[in-house]
Amino acid sequence: MPSPDPRRIVIFSGSGVSAESGLPTFRDSGGLWRQYAWEEVASPEGWRKHPDVVQAFYNERRQPAAQAQPNAAHRAIAELEKAFDVVVVTQNVDDLHERAGSTTVVHVHGELAFARGEHSGLRQHVGAEPIRMGQLCAQGSQLRPDIVWFGESVQHLEEARAHVARAGRLLVVGTSLSVFPAASLVHAAQPSADKVVVAPELDSPPAGFDWMRGKATDCVPQVVARWLRERAHVSQGRDA
Ligand code: APR
Repeated sequence: MPSPDPRRIVIFSGSGVSAESGLPTFRDSGGLWRQYAWEEVASPEGWRKHPDVVQAFYNERRQPAAQAQPNAAHRAIAELEKAFDVVVVTQNVDDLHERAGSTTVVHVHGELAFARGEHSGLRQHVGAEPIRMGQLCAQGSQLRPDIVWFGESVQHLEEARAHVARAGRLLVVGTSLSVFPAASLVHAAQPSADKVVVAPELDSPPAGFDWMRGKATDCVPQVVARWLRERAHVSQGRDA
């Protein structure tokens, strides 16, 4: 197992990092799965049963996500690229990390701004536009949201796991770590890596992680400032 590289950082994020940008989480009070049955709107069975209902669910989320603005947590994460090699692995389907300036973002649960042909798998950018039944990809296949539904395979998982295994620093923010296999990524971190988890509530904080019990916009800038300071010291030490 390669030793973790202190210049490499992985951020593993969930919907909580976008909560203060006005986007709902899933399992908190007022969360999406408190309002909708995921079986009906986020599963292959729901799609087979009533595709228009599924389309409507994601069409209703696409506009607010496009209008939301990155918050202080997203921006602080992008700042890290000044001194570190940063990979953001996100369960989120919004593009707030990218709009904050993060240049390497791996979406393991898909992206709201993309659609794909149901049978062709052909992907196309839709931005904030709704997807309609009868709308086909270039190969004539019905377009569906490019989102990973329950029971479907997660995207880029092994790539994400490799990034986590090489990271000298890992920040987990805004996820309940209750959905697998994405949540298993935290276990790929090296014992000697500096590991921090940020969330107001967590059933079981992962072993070996420092738990900052608070909001992303309060805690993430603090972690980022500490890591940038540590890096500056190292470079000064080297230059001294
Ligand atoms: N700052 C930081 N964390 C927050 C904030 C905040 N302002 N608000 C809420 N949280 C935390 C909650 O305490 C909780 O731990 O964010 C977490 C949100 O958990 P979930 O609602 O379970 O969302 P998430 O972990 O992103 O869900 C994972 O489940 O439904 C599927 O595919 C969907 O990607 C999603 C996956």
